[in-house]
Amino acid sequence: MSEDSSFELRPLIGNPEDLLEVQRLLESAPDYAEAIQGAPFDSHEATRTFEELPPGVARSAKTVIGIYSGNELAGVIDLIDGFPVPTTAMLGLLLIAGTHRRRGLGTRAARAVEDLVSSWGTCDRIRIGVVRTNEPALVFWKATGYSATGEQRPWEEGAVRSEVIVMEKLIG
Ligand SMILES: CC(C)(COP(=O)(O)OP(=O)(O)OC[C@H]1O[C@@H](n2cnc3c(N)ncnc32)[C@H](O)[C@@H]1OP(=O)(O)O)[C@@H](O)C(=O)NCCC(=O)NCCS
Repeated sequence: MSEDSSFELRPLIGNPEDLLEVQRLLESAPDYAEAIQGAPFDSHEATRTFEELPPGVARSAKTVIGIYSGNELAGVIDLIDGFPVPTTAMLGLLLIAGTHRRRGLGTRAARAVEDLVSSWGTCDRIRIGVVRTNEPALVFWKATGYSATGEQRPWEEGAVRSEVIVMEKLIG
């Protein structure tokens, strides 16, 4: 694995430039869209990334972060502080652009998320939900130290009928 030498996280605020860049990024991952909904993302997916919130969660609890390689947006993180309980951070999405994968960026971003959540001082674990049809992600999260909690819930999106496998990692 040759690591991307340049790696930087920058918060994104969801202004028109961010929306354009994130939409382009999401469209660069058609395999992900296919795995979780059986079809490409529509033109509103970036807006959803910034605006969608679990029930009862305030917008202020959500952070969207760009993963930059050089000056290029190579990935995105969607993180929620305190969901479903105050001591858990929910990683809604970690996505690396197709052209930047298998170079360690996902691993570095996952570690950076752990550091960020640790710095909050309120959460002792990070939780993710992985759609079973997204097999590479299951391998990635296991390799990154996440374990299945045993909790599963049905997933129905577009043509895909599957389950969401809930995984967690305890952070020190
Ligand atoms: C999952 C994802 C974030 C991984 O990012 P990445 O930068 O390619 O990951 P890394 O290079 O850090 O890979 C670390 C390890 O994870 C595993 N892994 C990553 N991608 C894999 C794949 N496609 N198939 C099998 N194993 C994979 C490997 O063990 C890899 O180590 P190796 O390259 O030394 O074999 C990326 O594939 C992605 O963005 N996918 C689409 C979005 C997505 O599914 N996000 C997760 C939603 S729950």
